[in-house]
Amino acid sequence: MSKLGVNVDHIANIRQSRKAIEPDPVTAALIAEMAGAESITVHLRSDRRHIQDEDVRLLRRMVKTKLNLEMAATEEMVKIACEIKPDTVTLVPEKPQEVTTEGGLNILAAQDELERVCAALKSAGVSPGIFIDPDSRQVRAAQACRADFIEFHTGIYAAAKQSSRQAEELNKIVQAGQATGEMGLVVNAGHDLNYRNVQPIAAIPFMNELNIGHSIIARAAFVGIERAVRQMADLIKEAGSKQ
Ligand code: PXP
Repeated sequence: MSKLGVNVDHIANIRQSRKAIEPDPVTAALIAEMAGAESITVHLRSDRRHIQDEDVRLLRRMVKTKLNLEMAATEEMVKIACEIKPDTVTLVPEKPQEVTTEGGLNILAAQDELERVCAALKSAGVSPGIFIDPDSRQVRAAQACRADFIEFHTGIYAAAKQSSRQAEELNKIVQAGQATGEMGLVVNAGHDLNYRNVQPIAAIPFMNELNIGHSIIARAAFVGIERAVRQMADLIKEAGSKQ
């Protein structure tokens, strides 16, 4: 059964839009945990557009489930992660102009560097993972870097307008993830998952965790974080029980 990880960056987005002290992403994370989130994700971006270093420090002390830090594989971020020690780090590509992460990391273009980053994180007691497109070459490269887990980018799946296209993209995720069990890689997925498209992904037997931010926080604006998280957790459970 897949677990739900909740990304609370958008709460920090609202706060930073006024450079104010509220709403607080730490409070959001604790409510999300009470409502059924099994991990909390934040992305500490190089430009600090939403989550701030102090948020990550506070979350480290307050999160009771699991803290997953998304970050670019830069020297600055590796230093911060080794100091704060989230439970896991998901390495993501980062472009200054992008609105959100646009796709998976191309591990093949930076294999040695990513292997060094994974080793540094592991030696600090942090479990490293890499956000990739559903492509078996990237999966093998993640294993070669000694990542503990991968997160499949579900953005193309989510953007597919026709159900046949969506089924194709779903199949790519299933195919790319097929051999991960034997490789000892845990598989997560995320990006643009919402209340309408989450169930086919949640029903994939090897899927460990789904990381969801925008759709949950958007719904939370109307129904509150607790209900928004619970509704997503229920959909994931329902999909898992039909496996
Ligand atoms: N996983 C990764 C690696 C991401 O970069 C993001 C966005 O920060 C998410 C999951 C969550 O995506 P969304 O906000 O579209 O649910």
